[in-house]
Order: sequence, then structure tokens, then C-alpha cells
Amino acid sequence: MSVSPSGSAASKGSLEGSNAQRGLWSSRLAFILAATGSAVGLGNIWKFPYVTGENGGGAFVLVYLLCIAIIGIPIMMAEVMIGRRGGRSPVNSIKAIARRDGLNPAWKLVGAVGILAGFLILSFYSVIGGWAISYVGTTASGQLSGQTADAVGAIFSGLLSSPGTLLLWHTVFMALVMLVVAKGVRSGLERAVSILMPALFVLLLIVVGYAMTTGHFGQAAAFLFQPDFSQLTTSGILVALGHAFFTLSLGMAVMMAYGSYLPKNISIAKTSVTVSVIDTGVALLAGLAIFPIVFANGLEPGAGPGLIFQTLPLAFGQMPMGSLFGTLFFVLLIFAAWTSGISLLEPIVEWLEEQKGMNRTVSTLGAGGVCWALGITSILSLNLWADFAPLGFIPMLEGKTIFDLLDFFTANILLPLGGLLVAVMAGWVMSKQAMEKELALSPGMFNLWFVTVRFITPIAVGVVFIYNLA
Ligand code: PHE
Repeated sequence: MSVSPSGSAASKGSLEGSNAQRGLWSSRLAFILAATGSAVGLGNIWKFPYVTGENGGGAFVLVYLLCIAIIGIPIMMAEVMIGRRGGRSPVNSIKAIARRDGLNPAWKLVGAVGILAGFLILSFYSVIGGWAISYVGTTASGQLSGQTADAVGAIFSGLLSSPGTLLLWHTVFMALVMLVVAKGVRSGLERAVSILMPALFVLLLIVVGYAMTTGHFGQAAAFLFQPDFSQLTTSGILVALGHAFFTLSLGMAVMMAYGSYLPKNISIAKTSVTVSVIDTGVALLAGLAIFPIVFANGLEPGAGPGLIFQTLPLAFGQMPMGSLFGTLFFVLLIFAAWTSGISLLEPIVEWLEEQKGMNRTVSTLGAGGVCWALGITSILSLNLWADFAPLGFIPMLEGKTIFDLLDFFTANILLPLGGLLVAVMAGWVMSKQAMEKELALSPGMFNLWFVTVRFITPIAVGVVFIYNLA
């Protein structure tokens, strides 16, 4: 995957050049920016609050944090390591490692799972990206100022009940993603990430500041951080696990692709921890911004995917300079979603280029076009097909629309499965010596990581799967 074709070539070159120090720093930063751009997105600001609300708060958050720490970070390290050792696009990296370490080439299936997952995720991700675009206009027009929760809810329902409007914004979002992928230019975006991500962080802090004035901040903090295990279900644990993969962009070979650009002497562990901490920080801030507003207005924490669109507009309608902050906030949210969307489409486009010999523009138009068309099923799930649950005869999938199914199948099944394959590959089949060299950890830390990917991750993912299927 061409994360930053020109930038990475330059930084790889500079390792051998005289200005090695500067080259190293900018490469580590470039990797962190690309990886953070992929990781921080709708998953943090849209999905984390609503799945937390649906799954009862604190206990769910605790399981999610545990999944990040003991499954997410080790898997991210494994993906980055495989990418760097292979030095190519995911499928070819795995092939190269397979040749060198004598593995079965069928391991390239990991790349295939990733391509499929990215394609399916982008189809509905783009629809939600479209909601964010539509809210730029809603906030900028000032129609939110001083509104009640009911009025804000009605604006949101109005959006959902209009397939035409949803289609328009879905198309705009998809076009934005396709534009960047078709051009194959990432360097400008990475520079933008370094400004816009901190800006998003600051705006979230401003909303948290407002949320503190609602008088319900303590209740929200307790909801998020005081685990009540009676609220935790087995399906909640699956959602927490799936969300850990989704939010860190794992199980999809994205980090593998990005890792192939990481210079050899940069610590994979430190960089992975940095990206994971930033990602988790953004999600927790989003939770602290949204739940005080939920409680102060007597809203339902389990309101579902519309949660942030029913709460944040209330805050922007009430705080000083709310229209300005609100507009800025949604613009930054679009940007965060955009950089993630690019990393969802890139793997399939690259695969079409490499394996099918198609040129970049044609493969982007083809893959993006099919993805866009699939997105229409998610749009219809919000209105005309809202009662259509194609797999409703399976108890676990009862009442799930196509949109719900796509989300469920990708985040909770495909990504953990992709992660499981990565863990098994690193823990059981790759050359241990080569991995020791690649990770360059102290023996104690290496063993901790090794035991985790060899035993803990596969067992944890396996147990959660089996419990949920049973
Ligand atoms: N991590 C992104 C988010 O939280 C979504 C994503 C998942 C992007 C998987 C790439 C791969 O919004």
C-alpha cells in the first residue's frame, strides 16, 4: 500500500544519507501520522459512545480497554512487524515472509480477509461520513441554536428518513475518498493530519468543558468508569473486542501496509503504543463530551448509531459561539473519517493493481463504485428497509438491518478473525529469531509479547467467538 510513496522513499533513503537523525524522526512521525489518521475516525467519535451506551457503560469500557491493552497493542505490533519484515504490500509481504521462513503461502489469506473487510466497512462508513457532512450545514446555518432535545432529534430523524439526502452525502464522501486514492498522493494528507487531529482534540476538549457545566459530568464519568458487571453480556464482550480491532484499524492488514514503510531501527513497540494511546484518548474524550449531555437532557444512552448526532448538536446549540465550534467540529470529524476511509479503500485498489494489472484510476473507480452501490443498502436500512432483517431467523441477528449486519459481520467477526490469523502467524509459524530481531525488545518484553500473541490473543478471541456462537 502506498502510504506516502514519495515521502517514504525519501525517508528510507535518508537512513543511509548523512542526515540520518532527521530522516529517522520524520519517518517515525510519518508512520504515526498515517497510522493515527487511519485509526482515529468515526470509530472513536461516533461508534465508541453509542456502543458504550448500548452496552451499559463502565464494565463495557473496561473490557474494551483490556482488549486494547492485551490484544490490540500486541496485534498492532505483529502487523507492523510483518509489514516491515516483508517490506511490501500485505499480500506480497506475507508471500515474501512465507518464502523466507518456509511458511505455507496460504497465509496470504490474511490479506484477503483484510481486503474484504475494508470493502464492506467502507460501504457503511461512507454513509455515516455523509451524516457528518450534512451536519456541517446544519450547524453552520445556526438552526440549532437554543433548540430542545426534541427539536434536535427531529432534525436527525428528518435526515434518516430522506434517502435522497443520505445518498447525496454518501456520494460526496465516497468521492472524496476515491479522489485521494486514485491520485495516490498521501503526503499532503499526512501533513494535514498533523494539524487537524490536534485541532479535533482541542474541540473535543471544548465540548468536554461545556459538558462540565451541565451538572451531569460526575454521573457521566461514573457511567463510563464505574464498572457495573451486571450490565455486561457475552454479546457486549464480543462488541468490545470487535470495537478494539475496528478503532485501531486492526485485522485488516492496514497496519501491515503502513509498517512496510517504517525504517528498521525504529521501535515498533513504542510507535504502536503511541498510536493506541492517542486513539483511546480520543474515544474516551468523546465519551466524556457526550454522556453529560445525554444525562442532562434525559436522553437514552442506548439510543444507538444516532447518539452523537442527537447530543452534540444540543451542546453546540447552547454553548457560546456554538455555531462556529459546531461547524469546525463536524469539518474535523469529516477529515478524521476521510483519512480512515482512504485506508479502507487503499488495500483493495492496490490488490487490483498488483494482481489484476489494472491501473490505479480504473481500479479506484471500479472498487469505489461497487462499494458506493453497496452503501445504498445501508441507506435504505435507515428508512424504507428499516424493518427488513434478512438474517432475523438467527437469534443473535434478530432485528438487525443490512446496515447492522454489515457492521456486525465486519467489526465483530472479520476483523477479530484477521487479527487471530496474524496472532497465529506470529505466535506459531514465523521464525522467532527473525521476530526478535525485528522487534528489538528486551528479552523479558519480547517474551511477554510472544506469549500474548501465541496464547492469550488466540484463546481470548476463540473463547469470545465460541461463547457467542453457542
Ligand atoms: N479505525 C477507523 C475508525 O475508528 C476505522 C477503520 C477500521 C479504518 C479498519 C481502517 C481499517 O474510524
